[in-house]
Amino acid sequence: MLRTHTCGELRKANDGLPVSLAGWVHSYREQGRELVFVDLRDRYGKTQVVFNTDEDSRIDELARKLRREDVIQVEGTVRYRGDGLTNAKLETGEIEVRVTQLKLLSRSKTPPFEIEGGDLPNEELRLSHRFLDLRRPELQKNLRLRHDLTQAVRRYFNTRDFLEIETPMLGRSTPEGARDYLVPSRVHPGSFYALPQSPQIYKQILMVSGFDRYYQIARCFRDEDLRADRQPEFTQIDLEMSFVERDDILQMIDGLVSSVMKEVRDIDIPLPLPRYTHAEVMEKYGTDKPDLRFGMPIHNISDIAAESDFAVFRSVVEGGGMIRGLTVKGGADLYSRRLLDNDLKKYVGDYGAKGLAYMKVAGGALESTIAKFFSAEQQAAIIERMEAGDGDLLLFVADSWKVTCAALAALRNRIGKEQSLYDPASFSCLWVVDFPLFTWNPDANRYDAEHHPFCQPNAEDVEYLKTDPGKVRADSYDLVVNGYEAASGSVRIHDSEIQKAIFDLLNIDSDEAERRFGFLLDALRFGAPPHAGIALGLDRWVMMLAGNDNIREVIAFPKTQKAADLLSGAPSEVDAQQLLDLHIELSDPPPVE
Ligand code: AMO
Ligand code: AMP
Repeated sequence: MLRTHTCGELRKANDGLPVSLAGWVHSYREQGRELVFVDLRDRYGKTQVVFNTDEDSRIDELARKLRREDVIQVEGTVRYRGDGLTNAKLETGEIEVRVTQLKLLSRSKTPPFEIEGGDLPNEELRLSHRFLDLRRPELQKNLRLRHDLTQAVRRYFNTRDFLEIETPMLGRSTPEGARDYLVPSRVHPGSFYALPQSPQIYKQILMVSGFDRYYQIARCFRDEDLRADRQPEFTQIDLEMSFVERDDILQMIDGLVSSVMKEVRDIDIPLPLPRYTHAEVMEKYGTDKPDLRFGMPIHNISDIAAESDFAVFRSVVEGGGMIRGLTVKGGADLYSRRLLDNDLKKYVGDYGAKGLAYMKVAGGALESTIAKFFSAEQQAAIIERMEAGDGDLLLFVADSWKVTCAALAALRNRIGKEQSLYDPASFSCLWVVDFPLFTWNPDANRYDAEHHPFCQPNAEDVEYLKTDPGKVRADSYDLVVNGYEAASGSVRIHDSEIQKAIFDLLNIDSDEAERRFGFLLDALRFGAPPHAGIALGLDRWVMMLAGNDNIREVIAFPKTQKAADLLSGAPSEVDAQQLLDLHIELSDPPPVE
């Protein structure tokens, strides 16, 4: 071994011990002619090592040439620095190592950014030099957290009779609603594998095969528009159980969440996690993933507004729309008129709202340029409905159900954040259940599966399958944490006839269903147990536990918004011969440089 200890290990108790350490030159400082100080770094910490260059000319020559990020090995003796001389910035600050031997193991070019301290370099530079970026303590901490979380998850399932089973990467297209990443087959000209969007079908087949408790830390691939919480390649904590109902899955995941949070971050999460229906959260928060670290629910004043003299509101209600709004407690003086008329109005405009009406509450009445359109009784009724009082600010959007939901949900998040209505380090976890089974797709003039086509319809709603499919709720559930969709799952259809009926409703004809999902339909005909499951977004969990809002900060080698890996240069062009082997001809070949 090139070292006896790590750079984070030595303490006062080691005083006098001969040691050897190896690591990166984190910082370099000369003091007078005879002393050189280096903070030597590895992933465990930093230790100050001291070269007395007067004593040994070979060390002198080498030590004075050391530069940041060189890799060295030192031998020497641990010295307690003395009472009151501890360097509080280092965990090993009680001691230093007096060096007697120095070996340069590897030189470093001058790094394009500082590993610690200094301004954070731009993300492009960081990603193209990820090998340096990953040396930053922040990222080392995040990957450690990711490891701890993954291990805690495995421990939880392993002690509950689950089996970890891998499913194929090269498989058939699965229906999670995104575009597939395809892999051409050399052996079967013109045929393609699809990288899994999730192990959904395979895990259901494992249930048919009798593996009644399955889990997998599964890589998933989706060619979709990327956002701060989305990567084209990501990881799910995927599970499936047989002979269970919805509550069994929710309880199992409640237990997982509380035990993992406790183990990894020592956070106590009271159980059971609260449950809300989809209809409830849409009504109260305008979104299926509300951040419940703070209140500020949406209220609907359509009935009051319809009676008022305010033409804008009345015509929206007459046209089938509604007037919904938020109460910003004590907000009367928080936002200037200019901010309300420009900034906030433009903000809700991005979500489709045509305007933002605002009123202040003072002396039990409304103060606003539009207050005159509301009678004293109507004003009192609005204040009561909005659960408001003197000094509060009321904000309203008049529009369709969809637009009021989107605009007010976004506005609520923005105000909650900018007015610090919650502790950013706190956690709020909740279940949202009973999603609609289908959503209407006006462009394609048909219904799409809200989640995926294998969700069991709610037993009470089966009668609407033929008459009013939009009304059918699914036996499905999402776990929402701090406004993120952290997990999603459902009870599955285990009857091939019901499954076929759902495919019909989704306009997937029998041929196509057989072609795409035939192997699942076939399996369901050979004795399929009732089963249900869920998948948690591992990257998102680590991101939240790390207190970050950028998923790339918790993935060792992430991709950019444009799905590129700046480190390796993927995706890249390939040799003409490789294309020939794969029977692929480019229709629009990229220009030759
Ligand atoms: P779903 O598609 O909802 O369900 O995915 C489950 C969870 O995975 C996370 N997630 C993502 N994380 C990062 N980047 C992405 N692009 C991304 N897409 C999804 C989310 C999400 O809640 N087969 C079903 C699960 C099931 O029914 O059992 C599925 O994949 O946190
Ligand atoms: P106007 O009559 O268009 O000048 O609008 C009067 C007030 O109503 C302004 O504060 C507008 O921002 C607001 N307003 C207009 N349209 C809407 C709408 N669809 N929703 C909420 N407020 C609106």
